[in-house]
Amino acid sequence: MKALVLAGGKGTRLRPLTYTTAKQLIPVANKPIIFYVLEQIAAAGIDNVGVIISPETGENVKDAVGDGSRWGIKITYILQETPAGLAHAVKTAREFLGESPFLMFLGDNLIQGGVEAFVRDFAAGEAGAFILLKRVKDPRAFGVAVLDGRNHVVQLIEKPKEPPSDLALVGVYLFRPAIHMAIERIKPSWRGELEITDAIQELIHMGCPVEARILEGWWLDTGKKDDILEANRVVLDEFARRDVKGEVDGKSQVVGRVEIGEGARVINSVIRGPVVIGSGVNIIDSFVGPYTAIAGGSHLERVSLEHAVVLENCRLVDVEHIEDSLIGSNTRVVRAGGRRRALRLFVGDDAEVVI
Ligand code: TTP
Repeated sequence: MKALVLAGGKGTRLRPLTYTTAKQLIPVANKPIIFYVLEQIAAAGIDNVGVIISPETGENVKDAVGDGSRWGIKITYILQETPAGLAHAVKTAREFLGESPFLMFLGDNLIQGGVEAFVRDFAAGEAGAFILLKRVKDPRAFGVAVLDGRNHVVQLIEKPKEPPSDLALVGVYLFRPAIHMAIERIKPSWRGELEITDAIQELIHMGCPVEARILEGWWLDTGKKDDILEANRVVLDEFARRDVKGEVDGKSQVVGRVEIGEGARVINSVIRGPVVIGSGVNIIDSFVGPYTAIAGGSHLERVSLEHAVVLENCRLVDVEHIEDSLIGSNTRVVRAGGRRRALRLFVGDDAEVVI
């Protein structure tokens, strides 16, 4: 069994962060999303992994992920020249995949509990494909599946106006090589992409059984800002532990599950977990509230902050209350002195400032 991780795409909904980084590298609880994906693949016993990258962010992904040895897997990078759809990504990886069955995992999706059981079930059976589904409140924004009484997929519909079920497609699939023939037979959709849902539908037409499994745990698709904050909240809730490596002075209070990295300093401040603070971070005269992740090298002084993700090397000074925020690396948010109270902004394209 091989695995294919999709780490290309445009990431338009996460601009401006995705002007400089791949969305799969955005950290959740201070760890890049794609690292969780690769960990789960390794835990399922798959060690031959292809990673689809784009020309824009491929080098970043390679630098951050490396050759896979830290997870005991071997990674082959596959360049997709244009983000022409999930099925196009599979087509691009045709040579790497050969005649092997494979797990396809979207590099910006996180699921609770891993994929081991899903992979094991598929390997033991005969189905041409397995799809993973999750019951959602409003399925209109997703691919939606219709099943028969035996968990076989009858139909897949992309973003239906009137959803026939509440079963949304999660970004994790298992395929046998028949999928390549199905992809050869489909045409690009109205948005110009080769859709994996069309390819799976084609498999069903070809008489190849497609089975579904329903995920009971959480599923996080980190395509937009609020999704990243939600992912951060859920992952901190589940995985944060108390681990204080940095220095905390006698006037500070660190409450609950708080991780503080090497070389970090907490001075005259209150940190209320679950929180992760990266290495070398300074927190001075500040309050850091629950569900916050601060990446390495940032400096916070006279700030209060909660339910937020702060990337590396930011400087936040004299800001009363920041919440529900995602702050890109090397950002400065400071209060200017003087009597004139004005906002002075120097923000990147597609930024959002809510006051
Ligand atoms: P999407 O989130 O559907 O697409 P996108 O990355 O282009 O984002 P946006 O809609 O904000 O512009 O893609 C799901 C995952 O698959 C994501 O990790 C990117 C990856 N992907 C590829 O690797 N190649 C592709 O051709 C596409 C469409 C997506």
